[in-house]
Amino acid sequence: MTKAVPNRVLGIETSCDDTGVAIFDSEQGLLAHALYSQIETHREYGGVVPELAARDHIRKVIPLVETVLERAGCERESITGVAYTSGPGLAGALLAGSAVAKGLAFSWGVPAVGVHHMEGHMLAPMLEDKPPQFPFIALLVSGGHTLLAEVKGIGEYRILGQTLDDAVGEAFDKTAKILGLGYPGGPAMAKAAELGNPTRFKFPRPMIDRPGLDFSYSGLKTFALNTVEKEFIDQQTVCDIAYAFQDAAVDTLMIKCKRALLHTKVRRLVVAGGVGANIRLREQLKIMTDKIGCELFYPRIDFCTDNGAMIAYAGSKRLHQASPDLSFQVKPRWSLEELLPI
Ligand code: KG4
Ligand code: ZN
Repeated sequence: MTKAVPNRVLGIETSCDDTGVAIFDSEQGLLAHALYSQIETHREYGGVVPELAARDHIRKVIPLVETVLERAGCERESITGVAYTSGPGLAGALLAGSAVAKGLAFSWGVPAVGVHHMEGHMLAPMLEDKPPQFPFIALLVSGGHTLLAEVKGIGEYRILGQTLDDAVGEAFDKTAKILGLGYPGGPAMAKAAELGNPTRFKFPRPMIDRPGLDFSYSGLKTFALNTVEKEFIDQQTVCDIAYAFQDAAVDTLMIKCKRALLHTKVRRLVVAGGVGANIRLREQLKIMTDKIGCELFYPRIDFCTDNGAMIAYAGSKRLHQASPDLSFQVKPRWSLEELLPI
């Protein structure tokens, strides 16, 4: 394996419904980032339409590349590598970003490296002023994943637990749909929950009585559906159900994080992925980590959800592993444990 040398990487994220582009310099840090959210494209369908997502990425990637080069005030000749999300995610969306990234890298005469989307999320806190040191426990909570991993270094991941069915973000989104709160569901649920009555409904805490660190969220969504069918649904009831759902979802995440920290004796917790933007989750994790004397790290709110900066950062760390040929393969399903250490 070759040793990493200073580099300046253009990162391209297109795994789902956000087109994110950024430039990370291994000596100077993050130089620029830009994001185009497809929320308006998908809103009328109540969720992400994969074909529309892929087409929108194709339209937006190049303009965003021009934007970040301008924002960073750097010439494209100074870019020494291109990183792109090669999985996991929606196949068509991944293909759109990968093809553009490979094409740019070829025409600029620089290497291109495929990045694991969840590794990007997990390393996003490294872009902050006070980054976590290794080892840490990572809680990855997004629309597609809910997992706890022990992280000893970049590429040294041991999955401790994961969801057996729906991801927590997916459960937020589906419950929001049931409650008529629209898309994207997570932020809408959190907003409704602020007005909820904390004592009206009590949702179950799935899997907390079983040993281990796996999660299950489809039951919570079904519990919400059953509650909706039993109750007269006015605006207050929607808020009360949103509160009870969020309370149960956050509580189970907090309980499993505590268990992982105590079990591994690791003293740092890193939270990443879209659900990491949830304020209630942040409050509960702060209380828990203070109590047991652990440190807690997040990316800034903008980098909790999908973004190009995390891909540019992970790509910078992995550029020396770039494959020289023009072929590429996207991996809609891809375990973190398959990654190589750097
Ligand atoms: O990481 P992300 O942007 O995309 C994926 O890789 O999936 O995460 C998106 C997920 C969605 O399910 C969204 O509803 C959820 O994160 N989310 C939230 C909040 N903000 C985004 N869930 C709960 N509370 C939030 N404030
Ligand atoms: Zn994501």
